[in-house]
Amino acid sequence: MNISDTTTVRDLAAGVPGATRVFETFGIDYCCGGHRTLADACQEASLPVEDLTHSLEEAGRASQPGAERDWRQESLTALTEYIIDTHHLFTRQELDRLEKLFDKVYSRHGENHPELFEAQKTFYQLKQDLIPHMLKEEQVLFPYITRMEEAAGGGRAIPPPFFGTVQNPVRIMMLEHETAGGLLRALRATTGDYTTPADACVSYQTLYQALAGFEADLHQHIHLENNLLFLRAIEMEEAAPGFQRSTSQPDEHRCFGH
Ligand SMILES: [Fe+2]
Ligand SMILES: [Fe+2]
Repeated sequence: MNISDTTTVRDLAAGVPGATRVFETFGIDYCCGGHRTLADACQEASLPVEDLTHSLEEAGRASQPGAERDWRQESLTALTEYIIDTHHLFTRQELDRLEKLFDKVYSRHGENHPELFEAQKTFYQLKQDLIPHMLKEEQVLFPYITRMEEAAGGGRAIPPPFFGTVQNPVRIMMLEHETAGGLLRALRATTGDYTTPADACVSYQTLYQALAGFEADLHQHIHLENNLLFLRAIEMEEAAPGFQRSTSQPDEHRCFGH
């Protein structure tokens, strides 16, 4: 695809193989901040736009054709299955592992490194937010997207959901993504970009490496949802026969049936 500084970050992330790795390296937010143009994102991060353009072109050239799935071409159901089988699984596994690691590292190093207390608190908050967030996606939003896609494939009208329009749960999920993104930034700041001190043991080093890996995976996960799944689901609903946008805005609790 054509890479220009007026292209949005989300289109580059979806269309240029390897682009998300480039954005991770340069610290460009491509999941919740994907609506910005490349020029705006670079300006915000104080980076020369030419450096990013060059790296994106290199990444596109270096990737093997077909090495990454092009989620713009696949079904939404396949995308939800992929998200659950890879990102949700990884997130749950890592939240458990990291919680134990944090306990261990804090008990040994907390006295000399009080920032670990702050980092652990932020991590717990992230865990408490992400577990119900993924459940809501798996139990409510993703099944509705699948039913909607099945109806669209059969040329049938979409059965009206109890939450009015798919835009309502999507809006809530995107707000929760922003909160998670803020907690990740706080964790990165508290840990000095995951830099271990000179006296760090192997567990301490493992914890920080794993946190950095967790962050990268969550960025990719949110990118797939915000910039591909949710946008395409909204378009699909709007194109459905007989669709009328609800003007009501159910609150968060009604949306998910609590
Ligand atoms: Fe998710
Ligand atoms: Fe999500």
